[in-house]
Amino acid sequence: MFEIVEWKNNTVVMIDQRILPAKEVYLVLKDYNAVAKAIKDMVVRGAPAIGVSAAMGFALGALKAKQKDKKAFLRELKKVSKVLGATRPTAVNLFWALERMNGVVEANADLSVDALKERLVQEAKTIHKEDIEINRSIGKNGGKLLKKNWTVLTHCNAGALATAGYGTALGVIRGANEAGKNVSVFADETRPFMQGTRLTAWELKKDKIDVTLITDNMAGHMMSKGLIDAVVVGSDRIASNGDIANKIGTYMVAVLAKEHKIPFYVAAPLSTIDMNIKDGTEIPIEERDIKEVTHFGGKRVAPTGINVLNPAFDVTPNRYVSGIITEKGVVTRPYRAGIKKLFSK
Ligand code: MRU
Repeated sequence: MFEIVEWKNNTVVMIDQRILPAKEVYLVLKDYNAVAKAIKDMVVRGAPAIGVSAAMGFALGALKAKQKDKKAFLRELKKVSKVLGATRPTAVNLFWALERMNGVVEANADLSVDALKERLVQEAKTIHKEDIEINRSIGKNGGKLLKKNWTVLTHCNAGALATAGYGTALGVIRGANEAGKNVSVFADETRPFMQGTRLTAWELKKDKIDVTLITDNMAGHMMSKGLIDAVVVGSDRIASNGDIANKIGTYMVAVLAKEHKIPFYVAAPLSTIDMNIKDGTEIPIEERDIKEVTHFGGKRVAPTGINVLNPAFDVTPNRYVSGIITEKGVVTRPYRAGIKKLFSK
């Protein structure tokens, strides 16, 4: 296939997702500021991929730090962590990854600066490797929920491109198809950033999975025509009560699914669950540049001076969620208790 984010010769290499599918370009990032900028500018996007990239950015920041003195080195790491943590607010995997890297620093206080650098690089590589394994488990667990010849609607891109590989929501489809279920996909275009059109359609086509692209406002019509058997999406942050934040428009799809009695599944690793927040109202929603809405293909399509809002995510209350598919199994209602149990498995 293709690498999404990779540690290579002490640099971080990423496929530039902003220009897919027109061009397959890989960027070589040589310092942590470049990684932070790549996350902010959405060279890399998708909650788990952001987490893996942040871990690699942290490792790069450590590796390239000039400080020989331990105290000064630790101060530099704090700065690195702060810069990476200020890139995108919604996907909790970013903060999960930074916390894990900072945890390694704390747990290895006795190591020399050079040994700690090596240890942090190793941890970032481990996070990368684990993410692919986790997605395969999500795929196996979720694949069982889909029946033979079903058509699944997905929103945004929760595929290989949004992770270290294989994907969460698209991992579920891959898992079902590896079990011989011949599942096909309807992909919402996902305005305004077009992750469905540009990324989901591209990676599924490349993987020879049957995919039909629709605009976001066609989802209800397709459901009413009986063309959708299930919805599977990813998530950027799941609250401890099972409310889920995902790409703007997901809430709309969930409400439609309930109206049409279609199961609505959310596939995500445990690192997407934020046990520190009690419900979805506490999830910070990123507001992005209004140009994403006023412009199309680089050209202004809205009148100048118009009022515009551009929240990048919305929250779907848990009552619309039929199941949360994780690497540790599928959780159903009541979510608070089920989610708590996941962490003790
Ligand atoms: O703004 P993006 O492209 O980073 O948003 C991505 C999504 O909303 C995904 O659905 C989510 O991160 C899950 S990815 C496995």
